Amino acid sequence: MRLQSPRGTQDVLPADAFKWHHVESTFREIVGRYGYLDIRTPTFEDTELFTRSAGETSDIVTKEMYEFRDKGDRSITLKPEGTAGIIRAVIQYSLCPPGVIGRFSYVTPIFRYERPQKGRLREAHQVGLELVGSASPRADAEVIEITYRFYEALGLTGVRVELNSIGRGDCRARFREALLAKTSSLLVEMGDDFRDRVEKNPLRLLDSKDPSVREAIDGLPPITDFLEADSCSKFEELQSLLTESQIPFVLKPGIVRGLDYYTDTVFEVISSNLGAQDALCGGGRYDGLVKELGGKDTPSVGVAMGIERAIIVLDEQGLFPSVPGVDVFLLGIAGAVHTVAAPLRNAGISVLTDPDSRSMKSQLGQADRAGARFAVIAGEEEWARNAVQVRDLGSSTQTEVAIDRLVAYLKAVL
Ligand code: HAM
Repeated sequence: MRLQSPRGTQDVLPADAFKWHHVESTFREIVGRYGYLDIRTPTFEDTELFTRSAGETSDIVTKEMYEFRDKGDRSITLKPEGTAGIIRAVIQYSLCPPGVIGRFSYVTPIFRYERPQKGRLREAHQVGLELVGSASPRADAEVIEITYRFYEALGLTGVRVELNSIGRGDCRARFREALLAKTSSLLVEMGDDFRDRVEKNPLRLLDSKDPSVREAIDGLPPITDFLEADSCSKFEELQSLLTESQIPFVLKPGIVRGLDYYTDTVFEVISSNLGAQDALCGGGRYDGLVKELGGKDTPSVGVAMGIERAIIVLDEQGLFPSVPGVDVFLLGIAGAVHTVAAPLRNAGISVLTDPDSRSMKSQLGQADRAGARFAVIAGEEEWARNAVQVRDLGSSTQTEVAIDRLVAYLKAVL
């Protein structure tokens, strides 16, 4: 049988790698402006980390984890998201003691056993950030602003920030009562498993695609009607801050997010280019998570942005520059090629050569396929005059250039 990449995974071939570099370097550039520092955590963690963070009622934990026993009989899981590992590291190394704010950025693979479709993979990649140690709506606004600036720097159009607050404590309890009152007769007909999840986290009902559930909850007041005074005033302050920073957003009472750790602010950025999987990114505040994982009470907020989804939209909007080619394809007599290549490379000019020294026609074909801007041809005759021919492969014009002027000449025209 011919071996294939596993279902739900994607090879990034050399022709597309520059798109990844573009997205990742744009991300690093933007988060660098706000003083975020890179953090890298392991690809796998003890399973308990994710059951305690993502939450036992989330699809991620109940259905999608890549979980296995290692040879030491430990339960291990490939990380389904980046936040939990970072918070584990924050606690393990006491990175954010009281009074210290940590700003972390990351690029990570994530693993979720989902049904693959456009923009939904089993191994996907995220860029993300976590602001740990502040309860201020200014922290939420900073994270949302960075997210928006990132998509703006990529040049994406037609994206919008959707914002909600899902409250905490008492608000959840009151909302849960209202929700269960509307759906209790329906729940009797649902399976035990579903009922159990809804009992633990009724917000899951808001995600349901079941038409009878949707009909039952239609007309239910939005969760923002149940917010406590503190959550309410923070949500209002966040909205004013975003307006001040000219970040366009819409309120979307339906957003609950797929992970259980969120409190108050939740948000997504949506693109109409993505179809059913329309979320470019998702994030929010998670004030209880550090404590839940064994640390001190540490209010925090963050976001993760899917790299594959950003690339889909950038491709559809034609926003990638053309594939950068090599600067120079160098051909001619073997000794000359060897002598000329080193100073060009030392000067930062990229140079390709043919190790098999095939015919001139074949090498010019290779230069074309490599997208070379110039062919530098060191033929017998001009080499004897200490010179080479420089052919502009775009315009097909050719100039003789003295060897000792070659670097300066190419620097000027590249
Ligand atoms: P999430 O909404 O589960 O949040 O994922 C964030 C983004 O990762 C999604 O909007 C999507 O772009 C991308 N993504 C997720 N799953 C897949 C998949 N199967 N295939 C392709 N792309 C995917 C989190 O992961 C949270 N940790 C975000 C966060 C950080 N909240 C606070 N801090």
